[in-house]
Amino acid sequence: MSNLEGANQRIKETSASKVVDEKFNLNVKISKLKRNTHALSKTYDIKRYLDSTKFTFSPEITELVPKETPPYLDNGEHYVERIARALSYFRQCALIGPSGTGKTHIVYLVAELAGLPLWEINCGLQTSVFDLFGRYVGLGKENWIDGLITSWCRHGGILYLDEANMMKQDIATRLNPILDQRGHMVLTEKDNEIIQRHPDAFLIISMNPVSSEFAGTKPINAAMRRRMSVWLNFDYMSVGAKIDEKEIDLVERKANVSRQDAENIIRVGAELRKQYKTGELPYGPSVGDLLNWAKIVSDGGTVKDAAEETIIALTSDDPEIQAIVRKIVVKTVDSV
Ligand SMILES: Nc1ncnc2c1ncn2[C@@H]1O[C@H](COP(=O)(O)OP(=O)(O)OP(=O)(O)O)[C@@H](O)[C@H]1O
Ligand SMILES: [Mg+2]
Repeated sequence: MSNLEGANQRIKETSASKVVDEKFNLNVKISKLKRNTHALSKTYDIKRYLDSTKFTFSPEITELVPKETPPYLDNGEHYVERIARALSYFRQCALIGPSGTGKTHIVYLVAELAGLPLWEINCGLQTSVFDLFGRYVGLGKENWIDGLITSWCRHGGILYLDEANMMKQDIATRLNPILDQRGHMVLTEKDNEIIQRHPDAFLIISMNPVSSEFAGTKPINAAMRRRMSVWLNFDYMSVGAKIDEKEIDLVERKANVSRQDAENIIRVGAELRKQYKTGELPYGPSVGDLLNWAKIVSDGGTVKDAAEETIIALTSDDPEIQAIVRKIVVKTVDSV
């Protein structure tokens, strides 16, 4: 998971896994969007693809359905519906986009709207094969504990593989048979038990785009690529010279700052994102990050002052990089 912290929609490790732990003996943490006071907008039309009334899961698993996920803002791309369509037609899809473009957020939203439990794995973290597939505990072969992927395969829901291109090859190889049309998995650790993929076991993978200019990414392996029928591209609302009025509206309204301040904040954000995408800066701000900056401004600060403890410090600890960000802030504000 990225280190960004959106004020409203912070993604937090919670103890949601505990509920599952007791019954299914999972020992992997499940990330959940922190409960949020925002009412979920009911404007998404996914019922024709994923009808929450048709899914049933045991109470322990139902605990993993996200709650009160904030709405996902888009420019009429209907990402929520397109993800739902991909899952209903193909049971799996891929999301591609730079850090902070809301990929994790939208997966939580789709899971909530569809009433599907969410099983989340960040492939960039070194989660062990035991945690993912399972193992025996204690002496002998009496007590088997399902891992996260095994639990998902048995019980259903959405398995979300974040940073899927960072997945270790041995794990990717084991996933391949599950992702075929009539999927099943083989638990080699457990006398080759064969587990059929639950009819409502969906998979979403996400990753940063691979491009020569985008630092630190590698392509996903071909076998998994072939098994994904739908690829959805995500990007920031505003990048570089492309400024999205809706993002300005959002900051103005949510943080209660002047139009001019909101515009300056978005213009700086758009420039930082451009430089992040070309590898010149280590971080590109999400809309949540820009909102945090605006909130400090709304408390009576100036855009420049509030930038110090928000966007400048957030981008990097390195004073040289901070100086670059500061320069962009000053240039943008002074150009008005
Ligand atoms: N279109 C959007 N609508 C609403 N919130 C958004 C949108 N895009 C980003 N956000 C907010 O920005 C923050 C970052 O989003 P999120 O963590 O989902 O990004 P991500 O694409 O998963 O990033 P990473 O690649 O680093 O995992 C969150 O607080 C999220 O709610
Ligand atoms: Mg994410």
